[in-house]
Amino acid sequence: MSDPAGGGGVGGVAAGDGESVSRGAGGRAPFGRASVLCGLGTWVPPYVLTNEELSRLVDTSDEWIRSRTGIGQRHIADPSTATSDLGVEAGGRALKSAGSDRVDAVIVATTTPDRPCPATAPLVAARLGLGTVPAFDVGAVCTGFLYGLAAGAGLIAAQTADRVLVIGAETFSRILDPEDRSGRAIFGDGAGAVVLRAGNPEEPGALSAFDLGSDGNGSDLITVRTGGSRLPYATAGDEADPYFRMSGKAVFRNAVERMAESAHRVLARTGWPGDRPDLVVAHQANLRILHAVADRLGVPREDCFVNIDRVGNTAAASIPLALGDAAQSGALHPGDRVLMTAFGGGLTWGACTLSWPDVEAA
Ligand code: UT7
Repeated sequence: MSDPAGGGGVGGVAAGDGESVSRGAGGRAPFGRASVLCGLGTWVPPYVLTNEELSRLVDTSDEWIRSRTGIGQRHIADPSTATSDLGVEAGGRALKSAGSDRVDAVIVATTTPDRPCPATAPLVAARLGLGTVPAFDVGAVCTGFLYGLAAGAGLIAAQTADRVLVIGAETFSRILDPEDRSGRAIFGDGAGAVVLRAGNPEEPGALSAFDLGSDGNGSDLITVRTGGSRLPYATAGDEADPYFRMSGKAVFRNAVERMAESAHRVLARTGWPGDRPDLVVAHQANLRILHAVADRLGVPREDCFVNIDRVGNTAAASIPLALGDAAQSGALHPGDRVLMTAFGGGLTWGACTLSWPDVEAA
């Protein structure tokens, strides 16, 4: 897609000649309606799988996982818990944090819906007692939350909704090959959610600018091959592979490049002094990726929030979970300039800026 506003920029990574789309700058929004973050909730399933325990299940070690990824543990949902269950928990907390359970739309970003059909969002909306509001899923893997946020902001800008619940929820453990030691080391389960409301571009919490992009030429780098229309389970035969597969090294390189490029573009459009955020809340893919992105942005590593040590990589849930942890741990203060950036399967990437509101995470 081209960017009529002229700020999209063109990346140049891997197979990609993909462009990004950047929108919004300095709080400008169509119809003058900004989207303001006014509620934040998180939930992780109680069971914690430590590196030590994992190393008894597959051939790995705490030393390998910590040094290669920065992860110390991850939360794993029990077999009776599905993605909607995590989404309901986080969504309910976000509504409580927002002080109202009235929303006009529900968006669930997930790679691991309860079922291939229908979407998970209508079920979450119904279980939260939100009535017959529009509800749909967004599939952009680890970038899903930022895509969902952009979709929610679009509904508000178009005056289709005044308040939107955006949830990132994953039971990623469900699609991991039990024999895949690198996948099992990285990924965990969890959910995070925010409430957006229509507001003033100048108020704290207003989403300032977005940059989003994709490159489908890299779709094989992060994939579940079987179960869709290309290779249905029923006819896959010996080719059947129901598990998540990732080309780790290529994904690593792309993640660093794309997140840094997208972040640069969105910062340029936001116009903060020195293009400097106070805190980077990036998709928790790998601690080495977070450090590389911080270095490329010229941001001190300590200004890049980290909770991957406690929750691992939770895909679409990663950024809202990190926002919740940052808010609860005191790393985020009202008025802080926050940069979010993510990269995931698709390939997809994105970034978004906002000034942090006075919101209590639940
Ligand atoms: O979330 C969105 C996108 N995802 C990412 O951004 C993740 C990006 N990729 C990564 O974080 C890293 O590529 C991984 C953590 C997945 C893998 O780390 P790596 O340093 O790229 O390792 P590798 O896949 O190149 O494997 C190096 C070695 C291999 O052994 P040999 O062939 O050199 O003998 C692997 O078999 O490390 C081995 N290995 C492990 N060893 C112990 C892979 N996983 C493990 C493990 N424990 N868990």
